[in-house]
Amino acid sequence: MRTKRIGAMFALVIAVSLLFWPGGCSRNRGSDPEGHLWWQHAVFYELYPRSFADGNNDGVGDLNGITAKLDYLKQLGVDAIWMTPCYPSPQVDFGYDVSDYENIDPMYGTLGDFDQLAGQAKKRGIRIIMDFVMNHTSDQHEWFRDSESSRTAQRRDWYIWRDGRGPGQPPNNWEALFGHSAWQFDAKTGQYYYHYFYPQQPDLNWRNPAVKQAMFDVTRWWYQRGVAGFRLDAVDTLFEDPQLHDNPVLPGTNQYGDPKMENKYNDKLPEVHDVLHDLRKVADEHQGVLIGETWTADIAELKRYYGEHNDELQMPMNFMFATVNKLSAPEFRKQIAAAESSGGWPVYVLSNHDIVRSYVRYGDGAHNDVIAKLMAGLYLTLRGTPILYYGEEIGMENNDPQRKEDVKDPIGKIGWPQQKGRDGERTPMQWDSSANAGFTRATPWLPVPPSYQSHNVEAELKDPNSILRFYQRLLALRHENPALLEGQYVALNENDPNVLSYVRQYKGEAVLVMLNMSGTEQKVSLAVPGFASGTVKNLVSTPVAGDRQLPLRDVSLPPFAVYIAEISK
Ligand code: NOJ
Repeated sequence: MRTKRIGAMFALVIAVSLLFWPGGCSRNRGSDPEGHLWWQHAVFYELYPRSFADGNNDGVGDLNGITAKLDYLKQLGVDAIWMTPCYPSPQVDFGYDVSDYENIDPMYGTLGDFDQLAGQAKKRGIRIIMDFVMNHTSDQHEWFRDSESSRTAQRRDWYIWRDGRGPGQPPNNWEALFGHSAWQFDAKTGQYYYHYFYPQQPDLNWRNPAVKQAMFDVTRWWYQRGVAGFRLDAVDTLFEDPQLHDNPVLPGTNQYGDPKMENKYNDKLPEVHDVLHDLRKVADEHQGVLIGETWTADIAELKRYYGEHNDELQMPMNFMFATVNKLSAPEFRKQIAAAESSGGWPVYVLSNHDIVRSYVRYGDGAHNDVIAKLMAGLYLTLRGTPILYYGEEIGMENNDPQRKEDVKDPIGKIGWPQQKGRDGERTPMQWDSSANAGFTRATPWLPVPPSYQSHNVEAELKDPNSILRFYQRLLALRHENPALLEGQYVALNENDPNVLSYVRQYKGEAVLVMLNMSGTEQKVSLAVPGFASGTVKNLVSTPVAGDRQLPLRDVSLPPFAVYIAEISK
């Protein structure tokens, strides 16, 4: 009898712990009382393995470097890391040209190092998300090597091969995102292959079931190795019009000097959704989460990626914040309202390895640090899941190349000087004020900006008012406060041109957020629906503010101030 009871208790303990740990929960289990799953309460951290931490001091970051920094990530309040591709690759597009999906590039370490990283991360409750480069492989992948070997090769149809329109004329007018024709002529077989990105990144033919099978198997392989999900690269462009209609040409030229065009026939084709739907089934079998690199013009487009029955991507990234390139309360309010209206779980992105850092986009040159906190106050208090780009938490800035010969990113070489490439937002993480920001003892693959002297982890940990300390406080709050975890978003003072105010409400609890997006002091008066009176207790603010009573009358907010407070009746 006693043994039976102990057995039952043991089973209960195991069951409860399985609910909250990857691999343990089935699709609808593992949720909290509101039906939210782990990724809805998680903070994701994107790290660029080349630039995060260099374990072997060769100038390029690596997996052992990342493992050594897991405690830092834990302290910061990160629940999952998305690593940009670290598979074997010729590195033409710094890993987005994969030559073997089931291995680690020796530059970054070994599969053993990966297992070590995954094991250590798991100990700290941090999940790993891999980058899944679905649209294309490297031209050095064995699939492409076979495909290009002859017109009758076994894998010829794994890629998009077509005859030209005539001698020296590609099959149609499509252009690569990274400049010039999207077709590359192969003299050996006398045909062109299609590449949406660089010529070294041939597009896979997703209409071929064998491609789909092989790629889905890649995800299974990584799930079995313990990853919690994937960030899906370039999902918009998986399919092309089989008739190869020319795209409509628009007036003017782009940054590569090519005619502008509407990618009507090679972008966001409906077939994409069939693949995502089926990939989601595989994910569900492994309790995986799918995050999409979904560049959409508006929320209606983004909405489609959740799937008609919420059966495609759990986390299509909302890049709309990244398109707001100035501090503007009305603009951000509009974008939040749109995200809220989508019916899907919002996924907010402020910066990433393809976008100029937020510190530069929103900074005015004089108040950049306080503005960095203001932006943190925005995307870390909204309903939804934030994806934090490495270095944002210490106020890293872009370090764009000044001379063409210094550019590493090929698009900077092709598009110079209009397009300087993405090196500036990919510089080494700034750990301390020693040489190369403590990233490496060798010459780093990209130079660190001079700001590393003041903006680095070591210095900011010592300063209670640093950006890093602000992030830590905010993330800690986000993990424990029920209103921030579960609450509805309710916009307040919707006509205020300067201060973005809202409340997150859950049952009887509420958190008020006021963000002064202007460079002048603002006075705010507001009432909170459902709280005729009550106390407003400061939680995290810049500068530190006192407690107040509802309704608020003429609260003075200094330039770029953040005020985050708990409301209680
Ligand atoms: C999107 C990635 O974020 C970017 O860095 C890459 O160059 C392209 N996809 C091509 O894979």
